Amino acid sequence: MGTKYSPRSFPVFSSLFLILLATTSSITQAIKAVHGFSSIEEATVHDIQLAFKQNQLTSRKLVEFYLKQISRLNPVLKGVLEVNPDALYQADKADHERKLKAPGSLSPLHGIPILLKDNIATKDKLNTTAGSYALLGSVVPRDAGVVTKLRKAGAIILGKATLSEWCHFRTFESPNGWSARGGQGKSPYTMGDPCGSSSGPAISVAANMAAVSLGTETDASILCPSSYNLVVGIKPTVGLTSRAGVIPVSPRQDSVGFLRVHHLAFCPPDFVKSYSCEQNKRVSALTVPNWIKLESRDSEGSLLQFWDDTIAAQTVEQHLKTLRKQGTILVDNLEIANIDEIYSPTSGEGTVLATEFKISINAYLDELVTSPVRSLADLIDFNKKNSKLEKLEYGQDQFVKAEATNGIGNAEKAALANLAELTREGFVELMTKNKLDAIVTPGVSVSTILAIGGFPGVIVPAGYDSKGKPFGLCFGGLKGSEPKLIEIAYGFEQATKIRKPPKFIFKGSIASLQS
Ligand SMILES: *[C@@H]1O[C@H](CO)[C@@H](O)[C@H](O)[C@H]1NC(C)=O
Repeated sequence: MGTKYSPRSFPVFSSLFLILLATTSSITQAIKAVHGFSSIEEATVHDIQLAFKQNQLTSRKLVEFYLKQISRLNPVLKGVLEVNPDALYQADKADHERKLKAPGSLSPLHGIPILLKDNIATKDKLNTTAGSYALLGSVVPRDAGVVTKLRKAGAIILGKATLSEWCHFRTFESPNGWSARGGQGKSPYTMGDPCGSSSGPAISVAANMAAVSLGTETDASILCPSSYNLVVGIKPTVGLTSRAGVIPVSPRQDSVGFLRVHHLAFCPPDFVKSYSCEQNKRVSALTVPNWIKLESRDSEGSLLQFWDDTIAAQTVEQHLKTLRKQGTILVDNLEIANIDEIYSPTSGEGTVLATEFKISINAYLDELVTSPVRSLADLIDFNKKNSKLEKLEYGQDQFVKAEATNGIGNAEKAALANLAELTREGFVELMTKNKLDAIVTPGVSVSTILAIGGFPGVIVPAGYDSKGKPFGLCFGGLKGSEPKLIEIAYGFEQATKIRKPPKFIFKGSIASLQS
């Protein structure tokens, strides 16, 4: 679920000052020298395809670069869980195919290395475990639906990315980005909280350990780590991307999306012609005081935090000005009428998710060809028996809560009806009555509204808060509004170009970081 944005402490820096990984740029230099291609780091998929076309780059060189980045950076950042032993083979295959096929006949993802969150099944040498030892050795019946499509397009499966274990649905007590198998993931900007649950996909892309990664979101799990790691993230309308073969939380809220350092170049005319890229959209910036008010009403303390008040208000004002200058019609002073109820612990979201999780995880485990665990009850037992390996001190309260549910009964039906009504009378009413194309918020305070309604969200880098922690600007809209959201977000991104790769200026010893 990943909605644990409790403000985690920043690392306590010692007086030792150390610049690690300065060698990163020398790898880039070497590649530059060989290929005349400006840099793999920060390159868009479009840039990479152009370099392929002009014989300045091969998929093999690209994979070698990422493997080197992973071997240098990952011991500290822990964004990658497993590297695909077949990645170089797939790269050579892509390079070979590129020579044989007519230019332009291949998919834009052909030969591009992609990392998958460890809840997306692959039927190959990689494990699919949601970060837990309980699923190590399990055999999936087939590739996930999205993986089938990636392979068909000729993409290279680079490996599996870390995550908050079980999409943060075992317990809320564990830190964001932690899993038993993957360890503690870290944002390359703060060396602290990477947010979650798609922590690894965000960390890896932010640190240029992969060109693209796939993540999943139930509530904030793509948007929040994108925000904390200064990358672009897209959570599509629920159901737009296949969830087949994805270790689930809820079929009603789960969505598979992607994370990138920059937008795929959607707007250049040679890329996707259907995008008009006009900037005359009607957008409402949900006002900041709204969210500050919400934070103070959060009755569950660390569970949800809706507004990070360290995000500089002037920076946000500046961004709104930029949007206006681009022709966006900003509609001020709008509020979602029932916002307090949507964010209340009694909205029904928790009740329904627990029930849906039990049903869908049992179905997933049942479908596995072989597996040490076959049910949620088995998982709970496994954690008890392997309490050290799985750090049971973090608890498994969400597992236990889910196990106690008994299908969609009257309480769940009432909760579902309430969520539908909250969506209809809240967000849908706001959008349709004011003829809005999108809403915009700094950070991911809006994620629950998008989650319970199955709505899409796009987030792009927007700057740093007063403590140097990155944050993004999030655009949300009604179902199927991705083209509009992408246009607005892409326009904003091109006008601001805020994303800068992390500098990896760590303070303290390397040993202390490799915890
Ligand atoms: C999958 O897990 C097994 C058992 O730990 C391990 O031996 C193997 O290397 C893993 N696969 C990959 C690709 O890392």
